[in-house]
Amino acid sequence: MRKVLVVYCSMSGNTKEAAEAVAAGAKAAGASVTLKVGTEAQPQDLLECDAVALGSYDAFSYVGGGLKDFLDRAFYPTQGQVTDKPYAAFVTHGGGGQAVQSIESLAQAFKLKRVAPSVSVKGKPSGQAIAVLKELGAKLAAAGGK
Ligand SMILES: Cc1cc2nc3c(=O)[nH]c(=O)nc-3n(C[C@H](O)[C@H](O)[C@H](O)COP(=O)(O)O)c2cc1C
Repeated sequence: MRKVLVVYCSMSGNTKEAAEAVAAGAKAAGASVTLKVGTEAQPQDLLECDAVALGSYDAFSYVGGGLKDFLDRAFYPTQGQVTDKPYAAFVTHGGGGQAVQSIESLAQAFKLKRVAPSVSVKGKPSGQAIAVLKELGAKLAAAGGK
């Protein structure tokens, strides 16, 4: 079974809801899903998954600290071992959403391969946004191979 890791950070719950939708979509598509906040995720989680979703709130037009913490800790332990691993990004924001670019740029540093356009949601995910996020999870599950 394909393993999808959903790692995210959330201050007030919007991105948590988004992450849960991505996880639900991946699960419905047949993947086994690990859902973790960035501060608790470990480099091993990234090594072990077949595909990863990276989620954050927009923090001053940049990735939130919790996801950045994970990526900082994971960089050296996974270097050269996650090349072309499928990933997708999602953010929630208050009207800006430029944090997406920072996640994409960090993912590039890991040499992850983006398999779907990043999803950007204003505030708490609506029913329509939840559907798009579930679809993102399904795409990751399909991209994870095996
Ligand atoms: C410290 C901080 C900085 C923020 N900076 C931005 C920003 O630059 N642009 C933006 O659109 N929203 C910004 N926001 C708003 C959040 O990204 C937005 O409310 C998001 O949905 C919160 O997600 P959460 O409920 O998962 O914490 C900021 C929020 C916080 C707490």
